[in-house]
This record gives sequence, C-alpha cells and structure tokens, in this order.
Amino acid sequence: MAHLIDLRHVTKIYRSPAGEFVALRDVTLQVEEGEFLAVVGKSGSGKSTLVNMITGIDHPTEGEVWVNGQAIHTMKEGELARWRGANVGIVFQFFQLLPTLTAVENVILPMDFVGRIPRGERRERAMHLLDLVGLTEHANKLPAALSGGQQQRVAIARALANDPPLLIADEPTGNLDSKTADEVFSLFQALVEEGKTVLIVTHDQDLARRTHRIITLVDGEVRDEERLTSND
Ligand SMILES: Nc1ncnc2c1ncn2[C@@H]1O[C@H](COP(=O)(O)OP(=O)(O)OP(=O)(O)O)[C@@H](O)[C@H]1O
Ligand SMILES: [Mg+2]
Repeated sequence: MAHLIDLRHVTKIYRSPAGEFVALRDVTLQVEEGEFLAVVGKSGSGKSTLVNMITGIDHPTEGEVWVNGQAIHTMKEGELARWRGANVGIVFQFFQLLPTLTAVENVILPMDFVGRIPRGERRERAMHLLDLVGLTEHANKLPAALSGGQQQRVAIARALANDPPLLIADEPTGNLDSKTADEVFSLFQALVEEGKTVLIVTHDQDLARRTHRIITLVDGEVRDEERLTSND
C-alpha cells in the first residue's frame, strides 16, 4: 500500500530582503493510511511550514510532496484548491469559521466548493456531521455565539464535509482549556478509529502521547521519532 503522505527530501527556504531562512531542511517523512501522527517542536521549528507543504498551501523549495498519490509540489493554485477541498480536511488553531455564516452553513460551504456531494444532500450531511461532533442544537448559531470548543468542533465537522481521507490540524487545541482540548482531541481519536489519517501539530506532550507516533522538529529537521502503542 502506498503512503498517504510521502515527503521526499523537502527543503523550504523563505527568502526576504533580510536574507534567507531555512524553515525545513531535507525532511523525509512517510505517513501510512490510518495513522495518527503528532508533530511537536519549539515555536519556529517549522511545524506550520511542514503542514503547509502537505496541504499545498505553500510549495517546497526543493524536494517532492506526494499526498494520496498526487504530486502536490507540481500542482498550480487553482488545481490545488480543488484537490485540497476533496482530499484534505484542515483544522486551525483559531477555528477560522466564516463569521457571517451559521454553523451548518460553514459546514456546507466546502461541499458547495467541491461539488462532490449532491446539492440536495448537503444540508442533511452537514447536520449529520454536526451531530457527530455533538452540536445538533447549535447548528443555526453564528460562530460568535459559540464557545471556543464548540467553534473548533464546527471546524472539525467542516473539515469532514467532503469525506477526505486525511485530516491535518495545526494546534487545534492550542486555544482551548485543557478539558475542552481533551474533548476535541478525543474527536480526532474517534476519527482515526473510523479509518481517517490524522496529522496533528501540538505543544501538548500528554495529547501527543495519545497518538501512534510522535515526530519532533528541531530547527526545520526531523530530530526524533517515537513510536507509541495506540491506547485504544
Ligand atoms: N513567510 C515567511 N517568511 C519568512 N520566514 C518565515 C515565514 N513563515 C515562517 N517563517 C519562519 O520559519 C520558521 C518556521 O516557522 P513555522 O511557522 O513553521 O514554525 P512553527 O513551528 O509552526 O512555530 P509555532 O509553534 O510558533 O507555530 C520561523 O523561524 C518563522 O519565523
Ligand atoms: Mg505554527
């Protein structure tokens, strides 16, 4: 079976008038289908840069990025946006819900963008996903009327909109209190149990230890890799 994520010798150099900065240095990383992977490392170690390589939000300076059989590093922005919508669910630290849309409308949006789910099924599917994250009663609220944990659960439902095989979350619990963080993390765990592949960036060692494998980045390099037994 091919790797779901396959980074080959990825280097990312940011260039600015102030000079060059090597954010990722020769990173090679494979993630299998169904794996639950944590990426840890100090602030500035390159975690978000790594995530941006995998989602195609940014391109490597050198190396190859293959995700779900596609060579992401060769794709242009328009093509990438459609590919991303169908293949990767992304969850951010600050939720990034559209403030003028209700919870259910936020979840429907990626379905409208990708067009894979038939129009007549989108609202029902969105309600099903909100039910999955325990938010049925809040479906018609605007994000501002929801707590941080509830907003993040909407964001997870939105990430699942087009049923992507892969979920990428960049510090999804970084802005939540520890109890809420635990609940949100448990949702990712449940998704892994259902067969999704999940890559999570976290500062929280205790949460990281609940995944299958921890990758540590130091100054843009993979310095350590620890395999854990899944505790489910
Ligand atoms: N667009 C950019 N231009 C120049 N340098 C950048 C850019 N984006 C990130 N960097 C630098 O690259 C390094 C890695 O940044 P990155 O955001 O990947 O770190 P991180 O591990 O996600 O940190 P944090 O834990 O604070 O989110 C940092 O030193 C950062 O300043
Ligand atoms: Mg970051």
